Amino acid sequence: MRTRLIAGNWKMNMDRHSGAVLLNELKGILTPDRIGQSVSVVVCPPFPLLGLAGDILGSTPLSIGAQNMHHEKGGAYTGEISADMLVSFGCRYVIVGHSERRRYFHETDEIVNRKALRALGSGLTPIICIGETLEEREAGSTMDIIERQVSGVLEGFDRAMLDRVILAYEPVWAIGTGKNATPAQAQEVHRFVRDLLDERYSPEAGEGVTILYGGSMKAENAYDLLSEPDIDGGLVGGASLDARQFTGIVDAACRAREHQG
Ligand code: 13P
Repeated sequence: MRTRLIAGNWKMNMDRHSGAVLLNELKGILTPDRIGQSVSVVVCPPFPLLGLAGDILGSTPLSIGAQNMHHEKGGAYTGEISADMLVSFGCRYVIVGHSERRRYFHETDEIVNRKALRALGSGLTPIICIGETLEEREAGSTMDIIERQVSGVLEGFDRAMLDRVILAYEPVWAIGTGKNATPAQAQEVHRFVRDLLDERYSPEAGEGVTILYGGSMKAENAYDLLSEPDIDGGLVGGASLDARQFTGIVDAACRAREHQG
Protein backbone atom coordinates (compact mmCIF):
# COMPACT_ATOMS: atom_id res chain seq x y z
CA MET A 1 0.00 0.00 0.00
CA ARG A 2 1.32 3.47 -0.89
CA THR A 3 2.42 5.86 1.82
CA ARG A 4 -0.24 8.43 2.62
CA LEU A 5 1.47 11.69 3.49
CA ILE A 6 0.54 15.24 4.45
CA ALA A 7 3.31 17.82 4.18
CA GLY A 8 3.09 21.42 5.33
CA ASN A 9 5.09 23.90 3.26
CA TRP A 10 5.43 27.01 5.38
CA LYS A 11 7.09 28.92 2.50
CA MET A 12 8.67 32.24 3.68
CA ASN A 13 6.47 32.56 6.75
CA MET A 14 6.96 32.39 10.52
CA ASP A 15 9.92 33.43 12.65
CA ARG A 16 11.64 31.94 15.66
CA HIS A 17 8.84 32.78 18.06
CA SER A 18 5.75 32.11 15.93
CA GLY A 19 7.43 29.02 14.48
CA ALA A 20 8.02 27.59 17.95
CA VAL A 21 4.40 28.26 18.91
CA LEU A 22 3.09 26.44 15.83
CA LEU A 23 5.50 23.52 16.18
CA ASN A 24 4.47 23.05 19.81
CA GLU A 25 0.80 23.18 18.87
CA LEU A 26 1.32 20.51 16.22
CA LYS A 27 3.28 18.39 18.65
CA GLY A 28 0.46 18.66 21.18
CA ILE A 29 -2.32 17.77 18.74
CA LEU A 30 -0.74 15.24 16.39
CA THR A 31 0.04 12.59 18.96
CA PRO A 32 0.96 9.03 17.91
CA ASP A 33 -2.55 7.89 18.92
CA ARG A 34 -4.16 10.49 16.73
CA ILE A 35 -2.28 9.82 13.50
CA GLY A 36 -1.57 6.12 14.02
CA GLN A 37 0.58 4.32 11.49
CA SER A 38 -1.51 5.13 8.49
CA VAL A 39 -0.48 8.70 7.66
CA SER A 40 2.96 10.32 7.59
CA VAL A 41 3.12 13.98 8.53
CA VAL A 42 5.95 16.27 7.44
CA VAL A 43 6.58 19.88 8.39
CA CYS A 44 8.73 22.00 6.06
CA PRO A 45 9.71 25.25 7.80
CA PRO A 46 12.16 27.81 6.38
CA PHE A 47 15.86 26.93 6.72
CA PRO A 48 16.62 28.98 9.88
CA LEU A 49 13.88 27.14 11.77
CA LEU A 50 15.02 23.60 10.92
CA GLY A 51 17.12 23.28 14.08
CA LEU A 52 14.22 24.48 16.20
CA ALA A 53 11.88 22.05 14.42
CA GLY A 54 14.33 19.23 15.14
CA ASP A 55 14.44 20.14 18.83
CA ILE A 56 10.65 20.40 19.19
CA LEU A 57 9.56 17.52 16.96
CA GLY A 58 12.51 15.22 17.66
CA SER A 59 10.66 12.60 19.67
CA THR A 60 7.32 12.85 17.87
CA PRO A 61 5.97 10.98 14.83
CA LEU A 62 6.24 14.19 12.79
CA SER A 63 9.08 14.40 10.27
CA ILE A 64 10.95 17.44 9.05
CA GLY A 65 11.51 18.54 5.49
CA ALA A 66 13.18 21.48 3.78
CA GLN A 67 11.70 23.63 1.03
CA ASN A 68 14.70 23.63 -1.27
CA MET A 69 18.38 22.69 -1.53
CA HIS A 70 21.31 23.18 -3.89
CA HIS A 71 22.19 20.49 -6.40
CA GLU A 72 25.94 20.52 -5.76
CA LYS A 73 27.43 18.59 -2.89
CA GLY A 74 29.09 21.63 -1.32
CA GLY A 75 31.63 24.36 -1.91
CA ALA A 76 31.72 28.01 -2.96
CA TYR A 77 28.01 28.68 -3.45
CA THR A 78 27.37 31.63 -1.16
CA GLY A 79 23.94 31.59 0.38
CA GLU A 80 23.09 28.06 -0.64
CA ILE A 81 22.22 24.99 1.45
CA SER A 82 23.35 21.43 0.71
CA ALA A 83 21.49 18.16 1.07
CA ASP A 84 24.04 16.92 3.62
CA MET A 85 23.42 20.00 5.77
CA LEU A 86 19.71 19.24 5.76
CA VAL A 87 20.37 15.66 6.82
CA SER A 88 22.56 16.89 9.66
CA PHE A 89 19.60 18.96 10.91
CA GLY A 90 17.33 15.93 10.96
CA CYS A 91 15.53 16.47 7.67
CA ARG A 92 14.14 13.40 5.96
CA TYR A 93 12.41 15.16 3.08
CA VAL A 94 13.08 18.06 0.75
CA ILE A 95 10.70 19.80 -1.64
CA VAL A 96 12.29 20.35 -5.06
CA GLY A 97 10.96 22.14 -8.12
CA HIS A 98 8.15 24.02 -6.41
CA SER A 99 6.45 26.30 -8.94
CA GLU A 100 7.56 29.34 -6.95
CA ARG A 101 11.18 28.20 -7.36
CA ARG A 102 10.58 27.66 -11.05
CA ARG A 103 8.89 31.01 -11.51
CA TYR A 104 10.92 33.37 -9.32
CA PHE A 105 14.28 31.59 -9.33
CA HIS A 106 14.23 30.24 -12.88
CA GLU A 107 14.59 26.59 -11.95
CA THR A 108 14.23 24.27 -14.92
CA ASP A 109 13.34 20.58 -15.06
CA GLU A 110 17.05 19.92 -15.52
CA ILE A 111 17.98 21.71 -12.28
CA VAL A 112 15.10 20.03 -10.46
CA ASN A 113 16.36 16.68 -11.74
CA ARG A 114 19.85 17.38 -10.40
CA LYS A 115 18.45 18.40 -7.04
CA ALA A 116 16.34 15.25 -6.82
CA LEU A 117 19.35 13.07 -7.68
CA ARG A 118 21.49 14.82 -5.07
CA ALA A 119 18.75 14.51 -2.46
CA LEU A 120 18.54 10.76 -3.01
CA GLY A 121 22.32 10.47 -2.90
CA SER A 122 22.27 12.08 0.55
CA GLY A 123 19.47 9.87 1.82
CA LEU A 124 16.68 12.46 1.60
CA THR A 125 13.30 11.77 0.05
CA PRO A 126 12.66 14.41 -2.60
CA ILE A 127 9.11 15.70 -2.96
CA ILE A 128 9.25 16.66 -6.64
CA CYS A 129 6.69 19.24 -7.78
CA ILE A 130 5.05 19.41 -11.18
CA GLY A 131 2.04 21.31 -12.45
CA GLU A 132 0.63 23.42 -15.25
CA THR A 133 -0.19 27.14 -15.32
CA LEU A 134 -3.66 28.52 -15.99
CA GLU A 135 -2.68 29.48 -19.56
CA GLU A 136 -1.45 25.96 -20.20
CA ARG A 137 -4.64 24.44 -18.81
CA GLU A 138 -6.82 26.79 -20.83
CA ALA A 139 -4.82 26.00 -23.96
CA GLY A 140 -5.58 22.31 -23.40
CA SER A 141 -1.91 21.39 -22.94
CA THR A 142 -1.99 20.20 -19.31
CA MET A 143 -1.09 16.59 -20.09
CA ASP A 144 1.71 17.61 -22.50
CA ILE A 145 3.23 19.84 -19.82
CA ILE A 146 2.91 17.14 -17.17
CA GLU A 147 4.48 14.56 -19.47
CA ARG A 148 7.39 16.87 -20.28
CA GLN A 149 7.95 17.71 -16.60
CA VAL A 150 7.77 14.08 -15.46
CA SER A 151 10.31 12.95 -18.02
CA GLY A 152 12.56 15.94 -17.32
CA VAL A 153 12.63 15.70 -13.54
CA LEU A 154 13.07 11.91 -13.58
CA GLU A 155 15.80 11.83 -16.23
CA GLY A 156 18.28 9.08 -15.32
CA PHE A 157 16.09 7.58 -12.60
CA ASP A 158 15.90 3.80 -12.61
CA ARG A 159 13.08 1.80 -11.10
CA ALA A 160 14.70 1.49 -7.68
CA MET A 161 15.19 5.27 -7.51
CA LEU A 162 11.61 5.88 -8.59
CA ASP A 163 10.45 3.97 -5.55
CA ARG A 164 12.28 6.47 -3.33
CA VAL A 165 10.68 9.68 -4.56
CA ILE A 166 7.39 11.43 -3.91
CA LEU A 167 5.70 13.45 -6.63
CA ALA A 168 3.46 16.43 -5.95
CA TYR A 169 0.96 17.65 -8.52
CA GLU A 170 0.44 21.33 -7.85
CA PRO A 171 -1.53 23.13 -10.56
CA VAL A 172 -0.07 26.64 -10.47
CA TRP A 173 -3.50 28.23 -10.80
CA ALA A 174 -4.63 26.54 -7.59
CA ILE A 175 -1.70 27.66 -5.42
CA GLY A 176 -2.60 30.37 -2.94
CA THR A 177 -5.70 31.30 -4.90
CA GLY A 178 -8.36 29.62 -2.78
CA LYS A 179 -9.43 27.84 -5.97
CA ASN A 180 -8.45 24.20 -5.56
CA ALA A 181 -8.57 21.73 -8.41
CA THR A 182 -11.73 19.68 -8.17
CA PRO A 183 -11.16 16.11 -6.97
CA ALA A 184 -11.94 14.92 -10.52
CA GLN A 185 -9.46 17.33 -12.12
CA ALA A 186 -6.70 16.31 -9.72
CA GLN A 187 -7.52 12.60 -9.99
CA GLU A 188 -7.30 12.78 -13.78
CA VAL A 189 -3.75 14.15 -13.67
CA HIS A 190 -2.63 11.79 -10.91
CA ARG A 191 -3.89 8.81 -12.93
CA PHE A 192 -2.16 10.18 -16.02
CA VAL A 193 1.16 10.44 -14.12
CA ARG A 194 0.83 6.85 -12.88
CA ASP A 195 0.11 5.65 -16.41
CA LEU A 196 3.17 7.50 -17.69
CA LEU A 197 5.34 5.82 -15.07
CA ASP A 198 3.85 2.42 -15.90
CA GLU A 199 4.75 3.05 -19.53
CA ARG A 200 8.27 4.29 -18.85
CA TYR A 201 9.30 1.74 -16.24
CA SER A 202 7.14 -1.31 -15.90
CA PRO A 203 3.40 -2.02 -15.80
CA GLU A 204 3.04 -1.61 -12.04
CA ALA A 205 5.77 1.01 -11.41
CA GLY A 206 3.35 3.93 -11.15
CA GLU A 207 1.17 2.11 -8.64
CA GLY A 208 3.89 2.24 -6.01
CA VAL A 209 4.66 5.96 -6.20
CA THR A 210 3.14 8.34 -3.67
CA ILE A 211 1.61 11.33 -5.47
CA LEU A 212 0.46 14.34 -3.45
CA TYR A 213 -1.94 17.06 -4.50
CA GLY A 214 -1.18 20.70 -3.66
CA GLY A 215 -3.13 23.90 -4.25
CA SER A 216 -5.57 25.51 -1.80
CA MET A 217 -6.04 22.30 0.17
CA LYS A 218 -7.92 22.99 3.38
CA ALA A 219 -9.57 21.04 6.17
CA GLU A 220 -12.89 21.59 4.37
CA ASN A 221 -11.91 20.15 0.96
CA ALA A 222 -9.21 17.66 1.97
CA TYR A 223 -11.42 14.61 2.49
CA ASP A 224 -12.96 14.77 -0.96
CA LEU A 225 -9.58 15.21 -2.64
CA LEU A 226 -7.94 12.48 -0.55
CA SER A 227 -10.75 10.03 -1.22
CA GLU A 228 -9.79 9.86 -4.90
CA PRO A 229 -8.03 6.57 -5.61
CA ASP A 230 -4.82 8.09 -6.99
CA ILE A 231 -4.41 11.03 -4.58
CA ASP A 232 -2.17 9.86 -1.75
CA GLY A 233 -1.81 13.01 0.26
CA GLY A 234 -1.36 16.74 0.26
CA LEU A 235 1.31 19.39 -0.01
CA VAL A 236 -0.27 22.18 1.97
CA GLY A 237 0.75 25.85 1.88
CA GLY A 238 -1.43 28.46 3.57
CA ALA A 239 -3.43 26.02 5.66
CA SER A 240 -0.24 24.56 7.16
CA LEU A 241 0.32 27.84 9.04
CA ASP A 242 -2.75 27.25 11.17
CA ALA A 243 -2.61 24.31 13.59
CA ARG A 244 -6.35 23.64 13.45
CA GLN A 245 -6.48 23.73 9.67
CA PHE A 246 -3.39 21.57 9.24
CA THR A 247 -4.44 18.99 11.79
CA GLY A 248 -7.91 18.98 10.22
CA ILE A 249 -6.27 17.97 6.93
CA VAL A 250 -4.28 15.23 8.68
CA ASP A 251 -7.52 13.97 10.26
CA ALA A 252 -9.16 13.95 6.82
CA ALA A 253 -6.26 11.89 5.47
CA CYS A 254 -6.67 9.37 8.33
CA ARG A 255 -10.42 9.11 7.63
CA ALA A 256 -9.86 8.71 3.89
CA ARG A 257 -7.36 5.92 4.53
CA GLU A 258 -9.72 4.13 6.92
CA HIS A 259 -12.49 4.40 4.39
CA GLN A 260 -10.31 2.94 1.64
CA GLY A 261 -9.31 0.12 3.97
P1 13P B 1 -1.55 26.74 -0.90
O1 13P B 1 -1.99 25.56 -0.07
O2 13P B 1 -1.34 27.99 -0.09
O3 13P B 1 -2.39 26.92 -2.11
O4 13P B 1 -0.07 26.37 -1.43
C1 13P B 1 0.14 25.14 -2.01
C2 13P B 1 1.59 24.97 -2.17
O5 13P B 1 2.22 25.65 -2.95
C3 13P B 1 2.26 23.95 -1.34
O6 13P B 1 3.56 23.73 -1.76
